[in-house]
Amino acid sequence: MTEKPDPFTVPFGTIFCDWMTTARADDGPYVYGGVAEPFGDFSISPAAHVLHYGSAIFEGLKAHRQVDGSLAIFRLDSHVARMVASAERLRLPAIDGDVLYQMSIDAVEANSGEVPDPPGSLYIRPTLIGTEPDIGAAARPTRSALLYVVNCPVGDYFKGGVRPLTLLVETEIPRTVPQFGMVKCGGNYAMALAPTLDAMAGNEAIDQMLFATGGDITETGASNFFLADDERVVTRHLDESFLHGVTRSSVIELAASLGYEVEERSIDPEELVEWAERGEAFLSGTAAVLAPVGTILYEGKTLTVGDGQPGSNTMRLRQALVDIQIGAAPDPFGWRTPVKG
Ligand SMILES: Cc1ncc(COP(=O)(O)O)c(C=O)c1O
Repeated sequence: MTEKPDPFTVPFGTIFCDWMTTARADDGPYVYGGVAEPFGDFSISPAAHVLHYGSAIFEGLKAHRQVDGSLAIFRLDSHVARMVASAERLRLPAIDGDVLYQMSIDAVEANSGEVPDPPGSLYIRPTLIGTEPDIGAAARPTRSALLYVVNCPVGDYFKGGVRPLTLLVETEIPRTVPQFGMVKCGGNYAMALAPTLDAMAGNEAIDQMLFATGGDITETGASNFFLADDERVVTRHLDESFLHGVTRSSVIELAASLGYEVEERSIDPEELVEWAERGEAFLSGTAAVLAPVGTILYEGKTLTVGDGQPGSNTMRLRQALVDIQIGAAPDPFGWRTPVKG
């Protein structure tokens, strides 16, 4: 294993494990050799479809060192299913879910010596790009593609660990186009970049932008959004306009099992004013885990959520989720996939 910096001292996702898995499709199914190979650069044609027409999708999930020393991937099936769906939506060569499932396990097992102890974890990044060299294929899908899985040892996503975040509510500019919000494709992130940077310019306190296009709160640029109090959790109902977070669905199932009423519905940003006075807000995501929101900037107003500190329901749900992820609690929903290492 090559020497690497402590993941808690470098930005999330900037150091990579020694091994990766790859599979190529060339006018047919993906061919996967069944073994990990050294992490390294690829060679693709300058005319590759992805470089011109954006045929790129990805996933993000994690493997966690368990309290008994073993290793498990969190909600592998759900992430594989979402990637299969993303490939369909971008008309990339269809992914066989079983192949991606195995490629993810093989990569993690090859890199198992690099998994940091909790609260660190091993981030898993399956990626699929269109490689057909044809710049005339603007209105045609790529026939060849490269599917690969790389891993990063990671610490905290947000600088400073678990701390109350500051969100800026954006009611005009959408994150992406409505019918593509649920697709995990690079283009969505590219589209969100300029408006996010412009809106956040000059205010370093802002951690994320909360998209509420036309008065309809959906998600931030990298996580889903929840409101909570002692009785309920509230989050946006599913449609095509935003990413169906795997953590979001985990929080919903967990909250229901802990006796919370779960409301999946539209959330008007005007609600935030009243909610901030008496409730809690948090973000959910693979990278963010479950991150408390302390301040919301909305139409020139600064809303302090509760006392501005992480709320008790937020931290209870976070702990329940983390306990399942790291094997400190039973796994009643079947979310852990044990792997060797
Ligand atoms: C735009 C966006 N929304 C929501 C999420 C949360 O999804 P998940 O919980 O599956 O990580 C992410 C993270 O992947 C994201 O990028």
